[in-house]
Amino acid sequence: MKYKFSKYVFVAPLALAIGCGGSKQPVAQQPVVQTEKTGIDRKVDSVLALMTLEEKVGQMNQYNGFWEVTGPAPKDGAAAIKYDHLKKGWVGSMLNVRGVKDVKALQKIAVEETRLHIPVIFGFDVIHGYKTVSPIPLAESASWDMEAIQQSAEIAAAEAAASGLNWTFAPMVDVSRDARWGRVMEGAGEDPFLNSRIAEARVKGFQGDLGELSLAACVKHFAGYAFAESGRDYNTVDVSDNTLHNIILPPFKAASDAGALTFMNSFNELEGIPSTGNGYLQRELLKGEWGFKGFVVSDWGSMGEMIPHGYAKDLKDAAMKAANAGSDMDMESSGYIEHLAALVKEGKVSQEKVDDAVRRILRVKFMLGLFDNPYKYCDETREKETIGKKEFHDGVLDMAKKSIVLLKNEKNLLPLAKQGKKIALIGALANDKTSPLGSWRIGADDGTAVSVLEGMQQYKGNQLTYTKGADVALGKPVFVSETHINTTDKSGFAEAVKAAKAADVVVMVLGEHGLQTGEGRSRSDLGLPGVQQELLETIYKANPNIVLVLNNGRPLALPWAAENIPAIVEAWHLGTEAGNAVAQVLYGDYNPSGKLPMSFPRNVGQVPIYYNHKTTGRPGNGQPTESVFWSHYTDVANSPQYPFGYGLSYTTFSYGNLKISGNSFGKNGKITVTVDVTNTGKVEGKEIVQLYLHDLVASVTRPVRELKGFKNISLKPGETKTVSFIIDEELVTFYTANKKFEAEPGDFTVFVGGDSNATLNASFSYTE
Ligand code: BGC
Repeated sequence: MKYKFSKYVFVAPLALAIGCGGSKQPVAQQPVVQTEKTGIDRKVDSVLALMTLEEKVGQMNQYNGFWEVTGPAPKDGAAAIKYDHLKKGWVGSMLNVRGVKDVKALQKIAVEETRLHIPVIFGFDVIHGYKTVSPIPLAESASWDMEAIQQSAEIAAAEAAASGLNWTFAPMVDVSRDARWGRVMEGAGEDPFLNSRIAEARVKGFQGDLGELSLAACVKHFAGYAFAESGRDYNTVDVSDNTLHNIILPPFKAASDAGALTFMNSFNELEGIPSTGNGYLQRELLKGEWGFKGFVVSDWGSMGEMIPHGYAKDLKDAAMKAANAGSDMDMESSGYIEHLAALVKEGKVSQEKVDDAVRRILRVKFMLGLFDNPYKYCDETREKETIGKKEFHDGVLDMAKKSIVLLKNEKNLLPLAKQGKKIALIGALANDKTSPLGSWRIGADDGTAVSVLEGMQQYKGNQLTYTKGADVALGKPVFVSETHINTTDKSGFAEAVKAAKAADVVVMVLGEHGLQTGEGRSRSDLGLPGVQQELLETIYKANPNIVLVLNNGRPLALPWAAENIPAIVEAWHLGTEAGNAVAQVLYGDYNPSGKLPMSFPRNVGQVPIYYNHKTTGRPGNGQPTESVFWSHYTDVANSPQYPFGYGLSYTTFSYGNLKISGNSFGKNGKITVTVDVTNTGKVEGKEIVQLYLHDLVASVTRPVRELKGFKNISLKPGETKTVSFIIDEELVTFYTANKKFEAEPGDFTVFVGGDSNATLNASFSYTE
């Protein structure tokens, strides 16, 4: 290979001789050991020493794909300027270029036509799969299965890397409490502990061994983005230090500790400072306190957005503030490429800051092996052989089944009998091969998901009829074709009613289209869009034996269905194998075990609603009281429709015999909690056993309870297993009034059970 790193290691004297700009660190003259970290740092320094200021700034510049690579090179306008920059070595990264052919063509320009031959890093939003699509991240989180989630990220990475990509803008680890925010579908829900474990699993899954089928991960959005006021995307964020450190930041820290190579900042402001210009977050906390060695990329155009935020007067000012705050790479604002060199010359941004950013970027490129072989990810044969492999389909099907949550199952309507029944399948989403792919699956092709209709057709013992009933009603700006747009058309109702009347059981697939959630898709109403609610109630009058299969990317508020419909299955947007997963669950070939990663509200007025809320000074002890002067609504209960951690199975479980190994422990000590879980039903099933702690009195008020452990177990009918958890100092540590993480002496209650309403409890103290 022509472009070996060694070329850079030994050329530093040449760099000084030819008068290249940049720092003049001494460069090692002896061979370097490739695998050692210090080795990489030496290589990075040797490259840095060769670079002009403009080339350094170029590494900090990221462009979106700007021309049809297989066509003629652009001659005018912005694309021609970007093309010129690429040839000069002024483009460190590109996004949204994919496919070996295109990536290779661009990489060739970077490494064969530029002065220093520095490879470009190619990024893409590989959020839940590339071509073979996994469930949306919120759905995967309902599995509480870290191995499965890691494997799902591995599959996504393998396909994307085989397609020439090196870097995914995932995982999103924003703790989300507000279902109105469309991006809750991209994360792991409302709990910081679960989010942290999932963040680790996803980082490990994407990055693997950093081999040719792995991607660098990018942890986003740093930080607080999910706390947009009123759930309206890009809106103002105003959170306390307490919430920032105890709720928002833990998953970011976990992902950084798990070795994530990059971070992305966020569109929102925090304490009045937009994240891109936020030196506390990026420079002091992430790179300082946490010791993060990778680089931070801005979010799309977020540097430029500091102008409308009212934090920068123009793009130059924004570039200065971003660079000084530690934002290393500029995604599509062109702020650095246009102004950073001048800012350094004017002394407004130090050379050290630029060098630090470039070092971080080069380091990641070295770690990915791009200097050893810039075409490492560009193998057309591997691309063909890897994408769409049978084992990937098996993997995403397994993930999809594990993501399904059974919300209600009265009269054992589920599982369905396999023989001799008349089943009416109703709903536009039941026959949709695109919507199940969900939002943020831009690498996949429309129409490639297995629909519920196709999944159910695999079971041939019943008589299955399908009628649409009504469209989903997308509302306008959702970037999809006109299908599903209609909001009022009820002309399909009559045929659906006829089918329902003739059926033993009705399966209705209702909810949100896959592109109704995601970025920019906030909703102020959490009900079923369009006339679907009316369709549901109309069909119910014709035949109440309804299994409601929900497709959605966020918690919905469906109080009427929760009260009246006998069986409800939360089937999210489950990806390529969605229909097969749903059918296998409906027919009992897979016993559902998913548990909600976000509370489902009774109505939108309860939002944000989350289990780990504070007690308040007027908790009312959870009981309705005579007085109105306690923290409650006068028109709806405080509790959610379905709580965090909740989910049923085709069997039942009982919990008992909670034991605690001691009443107290101190620094470096621990206690063990054990509980017996029994399968009290007739079929084998999986249960996710959850442990919560309540810190009774502290220097700052603490949540009513917090998830601090969970275990997945499988039990045969009648079988009992003893599950144990260790509680140590780390589990009782939090961000205190002293503005640091520490464990405070005090009393705690531990709860163990199958959801966040767990009642089985014991007490212990943490002592000094
Ligand atoms: C999103 C990011 C995404 C980026 C690149 C932005 O609009 O907020 O999450 O990674 O675009 O596509």
